[in-house]
Amino acid sequence: MSKNFDVIVIGGGPGGYIAAIRAAQLGFQVACIDEWTNSKGGPAPGGTCTNVGCIPSKALLQSSEHFEHAGHAFADHGIGLKELSIDVAKMVARKDTVVKQNNDGILYLLKKNKVSFFHGRGAFAKAVEGGHEVTVGDESLIGKHVIVATGSNARALADTPFDEVNILSNDGALKLGAVPKKLGVIGSGVIGLEMGSVWRRLGADVTVLEGLPTFLGAVDEQIAKEAHKAFTKQGLKIELGVKVGAIKSGKKGVTVAYANAKGEAQELAVDKLIVSIGRVPNTIGLNAESVGLKLDERGAIVVDDECKTNLAGVWAVGDVVRGPMLAHKAEEEGVAVAERIAGQHGHVNFNTIPWVIYTSPEIAWVGQTEQQLKASGRAYKAGTFPFMANGRARALGDTTGMVKMLADATTDEILGVHIVGPMASELIAECVVAMEFRASSEDLARICHAHPSLSEATKEAALAVDKRTLNF
Ligand code: FAD
Ligand code: NAI
Repeated sequence: MSKNFDVIVIGGGPGGYIAAIRAAQLGFQVACIDEWTNSKGGPAPGGTCTNVGCIPSKALLQSSEHFEHAGHAFADHGIGLKELSIDVAKMVARKDTVVKQNNDGILYLLKKNKVSFFHGRGAFAKAVEGGHEVTVGDESLIGKHVIVATGSNARALADTPFDEVNILSNDGALKLGAVPKKLGVIGSGVIGLEMGSVWRRLGADVTVLEGLPTFLGAVDEQIAKEAHKAFTKQGLKIELGVKVGAIKSGKKGVTVAYANAKGEAQELAVDKLIVSIGRVPNTIGLNAESVGLKLDERGAIVVDDECKTNLAGVWAVGDVVRGPMLAHKAEEEGVAVAERIAGQHGHVNFNTIPWVIYTSPEIAWVGQTEQQLKASGRAYKAGTFPFMANGRARALGDTTGMVKMLADATTDEILGVHIVGPMASELIAECVVAMEFRASSEDLARICHAHPSLSEATKEAALAVDKRTLNF
């Protein structure tokens, strides 16, 4: 006997569970299916983000930053510590508690919103009159609409599968039992830099091997340069333009053969190796092909601007479709799809999706980079303001970096804001709001910002666009 729903959501990550809640708020009967299982065999909704992504990585970044501050920064404040130690098992257990709080929170939210939760793998069975049949275990669900939010998986190097002991994906990198003496990272993208930072702060000697000749190619060049300088100063070894060859893993660790940027043969011997070279959309076990759900050459579900797939009544959101693999992008798409099903005009503005890399200094940006503006031939003005000249940053003892604002040369509309420095993750929100309201740099420059605050650097960068900073 099938159970009938207006909306079935497959996947309970940020794209899926948020879509389910929004659909329920709009008055639909909603089911959410998620297969993530915790160590006790119970449900663990929240997806990659909650279980092995955003949340646990930020928990470990926080712990390791405390450790680094205690070891280095506290002395400047006159705080003395005799013996500093790190209990990695306790740090990882704390991270697991934070994850569990989030899993439980999501289960509570689904219940509160009267979403029927099914723990298990959802698979398309067949199209039926007015909808689709989806199975989960022995159960059959019929939905008028199906939203697929099955996320992504870590991409492995060809011929080098993850064993999560020596060759680690994000999953293994988040649960090491001890600080490795030597850690190798392949890929200097977001995961490589965040996880590399965690273990470096705790004492690992970290080498990052990046295939591209440029560091953080998608980031504004000036900001990427500043970040590279800061990371190198901290002791992160970053080699660009390498070609990774054979990887051998044994009892003594891992060796990576590679050619450096000059083409010279090199070998890196490490205790553990994190491979963070991007992620692949996940449709494993969904039975997509047999119901004719169209995938592209990357394995992503093909969707239009509204997240509609080629099958009537089937939608897809988040990492499993095109666009940046970010939790907040997945959430926004989930909300927009639920609203479209309800006949509303859900909308996601891809031009104002913020990016944050939670290293120290943090890197955050929204909108276009200077190199993109140059390439498109758009006339622009740029203003920068260094945290060195910001009173709050000096008081914090964290003056690395800057805020950089780019605005249209004629209309002064803000086209992009790029930040490297303390709390960039929080500072970028103001810039996203400004851009969403199509503010000019003058608008931001004329708004009163609290003193002393890091946000004054944003205001000053806006003033700098008009070449009239007050404090620099
Ligand atoms: P997912 O979160 O992957 O969720 C998909 C869910 O669907 C999973 O629970 C999976 O088990 C389930 N599922 C899959 N197939 C089925 C099926 N057939 N039946 C039932 N269930 C199924 N993004 C940020 O914005 N900020 C960050 O700080 C950040 N940090 C990250 C750190 C790391 C280490 C990683 C790996 C990623 C990070 N991300 C971050 C990216 C973010 O995690 C993803 O963009 C986000 O989780 C995508 O959400 P989603 O709902 O599309 O998919
Ligand atoms: P990424 O795309 O950020 O970086 C991958 C890097 O690996 C690139 O610099 C690429 O040039 C390099 N690379 C690819 N193949 C290589 C090879 N064979 N040899 C050497 N280098 C190679 O991917 P990453 O770090 O795996 O993260 C995946 C995604 O997860 C991110 O793109 C992001 O969407 C999401 N994420 C977001 C975070 C955040 O928002 N703070 C944090 C972590 C992940």
